Amino acid sequence: MRTEVAIVGAGPAGLLLSHLLGLAGIESVVVETRSQAHVAARIRAGILEHGSVEVLTDAGLGARLRAEGHRHRGIYLQWPHERHHLDFVALTGRGVWVYGQTELQKDLVAARTAPVFYEVAGTRLHELTSDRPYLTWTAPDGTAQRLDAEVVAGCDGSFGPSRAAVPAGERRTFERTYPYSWLGILAGVAPSTDELIYAWHPNGFALHSMRTPAVSRLYLQVPAGTDPSDWPDERVWSELALRLGDGERGWRLTPGPITDKSVLPMRSLVQAPMRYGRLFLAGDAAHIVPPTGAKGLNLAVADAALLARALTAALRERRWDLADAYSRTALRRAWRSTHFSWWMTTMLHATGDPFDAELQLSQLRWVTSSRAGATGLAENYAGLPLAP
Ligand code: DHB
Repeated sequence: MRTEVAIVGAGPAGLLLSHLLGLAGIESVVVETRSQAHVAARIRAGILEHGSVEVLTDAGLGARLRAEGHRHRGIYLQWPHERHHLDFVALTGRGVWVYGQTELQKDLVAARTAPVFYEVAGTRLHELTSDRPYLTWTAPDGTAQRLDAEVVAGCDGSFGPSRAAVPAGERRTFERTYPYSWLGILAGVAPSTDELIYAWHPNGFALHSMRTPAVSRLYLQVPAGTDPSDWPDERVWSELALRLGDGERGWRLTPGPITDKSVLPMRSLVQAPMRYGRLFLAGDAAHIVPPTGAKGLNLAVADAALLARALTAALRERRWDLADAYSRTALRRAWRSTHFSWWMTTMLHATGDPFDAELQLSQLRWVTSSRAGATGLAENYAGLPLAP
């Protein structure tokens, strides 16, 4: 088989890249280790930056998002006895949209025109420094497959083969692990808030997010390595009630049936450069952010948009300048989001050290009382331009 762009991974980065290339008349083929049902069911973030919504709308993928998603003006930041609203629209002119990654994934699958091969095994990347790179894999029926291409896009997350296909001497990895995780729940109950609540608490961080008017998404900071079975539903709700301030100033947290419960490890990772010969990395294959601030999906959308532009110039006009600049441009944005998600994480998570706690409270007071502080958070949260 032959195509112009061989894409490894059918998550949001891979499918959006394939869609954007298709709009420019460029052929692609996507291979994916998991089943279509598995990829569709993965529960991930639910917040889209202003710029991500623009990319999706310009690509004809905005209809359901705008009809069923919810635009938020900002967020609440709180600590015991205080809750403050930050209005991103008033501060920066940009808001955010609540729309689950699962929904975006459905829209991408519905819109796809390129072939996608699911449940492939043993994907390998070959001849990446030549102008004839290719992929090999084993199909579900056991037959060996080969896909020749002009370019390979590695959109296969942090555990896929693309990142590791860059020789060790040609890449640098920057990494930070955090000593805590998030216990995340999905609950069949109307959100108890109109916009997201980020809560600092001496017991640990809590976040009240949402997916739809009938589905809430909430998180609790827990020690790394926590077993979800240590957290029966009643314990989850009582700890959420405590950390989110149930009963304060008349605010109530309404519990409901928990439909999903899982523990998310937290780490930051950047692999640089994001290009090796004819291989270009996008999304989690190049960078992982901790979930605080919901940057992961937005970085994947930005990478796909930048890479589609670069590959369109390269393959249609034989202009490689944007492809040559891709890694630098994408990394600059990735590092901004890496810093922001590290900063939000560090400001909001309990470490057990009283000195840290006082610094965090001081920072929270500054961010919520200074227009400059609030604007800094808002600019980063609602999103920077595609190529800052
Ligand atoms: C969600 C996750 C986040 O990390 C965040 O900062 C906001 C929302 C979510 O899953 O809804």
